[in-house]
Amino acid sequence: MTAADRAGAHMVDALCAAGRIRSPAVERAFRSVPRHVFLPSFAVHEAYADDAIPIRFAEGAATSSASQPSMMAIMLEQLELRSGQRVLEIGAGTGYNAALMATVVGREGLVVAVDIDQELIDDAAAHLAAAGPRLDAAGAGPVELVCADGALGHPERAPYDRIVLTVGSDDVRPEWLAQLAEGGRLLLPLAVRGSQLCVALDLGEDGVLRSDSVQSCMFIRLRGIGSATGSTVVLGRTDLAVEVPSDGLPADPDRLLAALVEPGEVIRMPFPLRQADIWDGFGLWLALTEPGACRLVAAGSGTPARAGIDLVAEDLLPVGSSTASLALVTSHGPVGLALVVQTADGRQALRCFGPAGVDLAAVLVGSMQAWAAVGRPGAPDWRLTVVPGGTGEPGPGVVPKPHATVLAEVRSHGSPAVAG
Ligand SMILES: C[S@@+](CC[C@H](N)C(=O)[O-])C[C@H]1O[C@@H](n2cnc3c(N)ncnc32)[C@H](O)[C@@H]1O
Repeated sequence: MTAADRAGAHMVDALCAAGRIRSPAVERAFRSVPRHVFLPSFAVHEAYADDAIPIRFAEGAATSSASQPSMMAIMLEQLELRSGQRVLEIGAGTGYNAALMATVVGREGLVVAVDIDQELIDDAAAHLAAAGPRLDAAGAGPVELVCADGALGHPERAPYDRIVLTVGSDDVRPEWLAQLAEGGRLLLPLAVRGSQLCVALDLGEDGVLRSDSVQSCMFIRLRGIGSATGSTVVLGRTDLAVEVPSDGLPADPDRLLAALVEPGEVIRMPFPLRQADIWDGFGLWLALTEPGACRLVAAGSGTPARAGIDLVAEDLLPVGSSTASLALVTSHGPVGLALVVQTADGRQALRCFGPAGVDLAAVLVGSMQAWAAVGRPGAPDWRLTVVPGGTGEPGPGVVPKPHATVLAEVRSHGSPAVAG
């Protein structure tokens, strides 16, 4: 056994122990495909760490990465691949995931892996060739690599039993639906009001997609014609920014700034939030149920707060190496902002700004209590229905996309509070 074999076995053991790998077929694929061969510029210990590894950059931001093995395992379990199936992957990257999937679908199956970057496709071809003997020994099926914009799918080899995006999308495009076989499954990291949800969607006979499972995730976004339109807007000359997703009732950065110059009361929180509640948990609930919901994040500019604004990035909740928070802001009438902050003694509180701030804080507290009353649902507790055609008006549980409308409701409790 080589050092790489040992590191690979250790990674797979850990993924099984953590419950990320749950099925024999996915375990066998991970044991058969050597990840380090797909990451030739990295040390073996890096290739087998449970981390995403950025491999390509543009303007300082990663445009491609080898996804985190835990997330890949979660997605492969969500896909429920079967021997002999035809799969389209959008986001070939290193080719590692395509090799894993080819191992599951076997010689009767097919994996078509598309990437928008020709150099990545060339590298992925070299990696697959280098892994060839191991893949052959495992009975892996063919992988076809294609350089194209995956927003359009790859109609030449349709229909597919599975279409999987390993890159985040803001939309559910009609091309993917058209290329999905009857009863097929589309798995994608989908932006939903600023959160990213990895949703396995089954195509019904009525052309509607219904989620089989939902997980929280964080992927690089699609480039090309399906690229994301959401943005992060820095608030004036502060070190704070507001996220403005493309699919909600966006918070107006000018109203936020106008509220921030009028600090008001500090109100107790009914209970503290966890770090995970910013983009999942309560944050997802708030974004899907309250029109004025928004997320403030550290702008990373290091610019001190503008004179007259008594709020800095350090007041937000710690999230990894940065800070972020949840807020409600008015969209019309008197300006108001209520947001969760961390106080000097490390507790959480609600800070109110502007004449409508206290009313918004009451709404926020009510929303927290409603979320707690239905068992504090997180991503896996939501059920999404995707109806083709972007006709819906945004509202609680209704998330219009350019080509589809996403309806969201909490799965376990059938809560009438959030009906799609
Ligand atoms: C997280 S990486 C995928 C990792 C890959 N599955 C692996 O196993 O290494 C996302 C990939 O999506 C690709 N991508 C971005 N926009 C795309 C598009 N419109 N069409 C196809 N691929 C795209 C990027 O070039 C990048 O390689």
